[in-house]
Amino acid sequence: MSLKHFLPLLLTTTPLVSAWGTLGHDTVAYIAQNFVTNATESWAQGILADTSSSYMASVATWADTYRYTAAGKFSAPYHFIDAEDDPPKSCGVDYKRDCGESGCVVSAIQNYTSRVVDKSLSTTEKQMALKWIIHFIGDIHQPLHDEALDVGGNTISVTFDGTETNLHHIWDTNMPEKFIGGYSLADASSWAKNLTARIKTGDYKSDASGWLHGISLDDPVSSSMAWATESNAYVCSTVLTGGVDAVEGKELDGGYYDAATPVIEVQIARAGYRLAAWLNLIATGETGLKVAGEKRSMRPIQPVRVELEDWARPLSAARLARLAHGFNCGHEH
Ligand SMILES: *[C@@H]1O[C@H](CO)[C@@H](O)[C@H](O)[C@H]1NC(C)=O
Ligand SMILES: *[C@@H]1O[C@H](CO)[C@@H](O)[C@H](O)[C@H]1NC(C)=O
Ligand SMILES: *[C@@H]1O[C@H](CO)[C@@H](O)[C@H](O)[C@H]1NC(C)=O
Ligand SMILES: [Zn+2]
Repeated sequence: MSLKHFLPLLLTTTPLVSAWGTLGHDTVAYIAQNFVTNATESWAQGILADTSSSYMASVATWADTYRYTAAGKFSAPYHFIDAEDDPPKSCGVDYKRDCGESGCVVSAIQNYTSRVVDKSLSTTEKQMALKWIIHFIGDIHQPLHDEALDVGGNTISVTFDGTETNLHHIWDTNMPEKFIGGYSLADASSWAKNLTARIKTGDYKSDASGWLHGISLDDPVSSSMAWATESNAYVCSTVLTGGVDAVEGKELDGGYYDAATPVIEVQIARAGYRLAAWLNLIATGETGLKVAGEKRSMRPIQPVRVELEDWARPLSAARLARLAHGFNCGHEH
């Protein structure tokens, strides 16, 4: 292969680290594959043009590659919502305050939910919409994707197992990979099997229908704001429970890791279960999962026009930090 052919390959594979990391996103997708109905499976396989056993898992990190391309740069803010709260004293997400004028993960879930069923769009556009939904429902469940402080922890330096990195990165990648001991598709598939069994018959079973409380295609913003709010609460309770000083410059492979792993497990499980319910709603009008009092949506799902409101306002310190840090600096958020 000539250098000319080799170079673009190198460039497109540069950002190897990715939000939740490859392991987390692939696991979320495999869990969803385990819970979608047959009708949803055919629908998704049709859009993705893939009938393999990893039809969702193999596209789960596409969005993190795409955001680093010139064409995909606009999608970088869609991977998070910058909650301007005050952890560990007070946590909370406010759509109007936090979504930002370029959009955020919540507006993106709404937009691509609408676009995936929009018959006026090309096959490619619908395929991209589905790949984004698969990815963003994963991202929104990573607590530091729902936090503005220190650019979602990207500028908080920490050490993990002797490696210098940052707080955001250990939540995305180092801690999940240590817990599972790898990051291959096979690792993700077996982690998904474990979490799926726990949802069906194990320790998550009694909570799982509550995970779908309030889920509604009529209101994608409220649905995903509930997920963002729940995820963001872990920033106060677990991620920064002792404030920034308690973690800055510290080795976190120890008690910190031990406290984090149950949160990582349940957040991956919730993301996969909710992704399945969301796709079932889109494809069939019902979650397909036992939700108390659920009625089938009789209204055929229609694409809606999604517009961001005019949120022009003075830039907050958090937003200035985000701009200074850049969306595409090689760190992830
Ligand atoms: C779904 O598909 C599987 C195999 O592809 C089949 O065994 C099962 O009966 C189907 N379930 C329903 C409810 O049709
Ligand atoms: C899931 O994995 C944990 C270890 O992380 C194990 O203790 C548990 O028994 C597994 N559960 C199932 C249902 O496989
Ligand atoms: C919706 O998605 C399309 C395609 O990626 C994009 O061009 C548009 O700006 C998005 N709209 C909003 C409001 O995010
Ligand atoms: Zn992402």
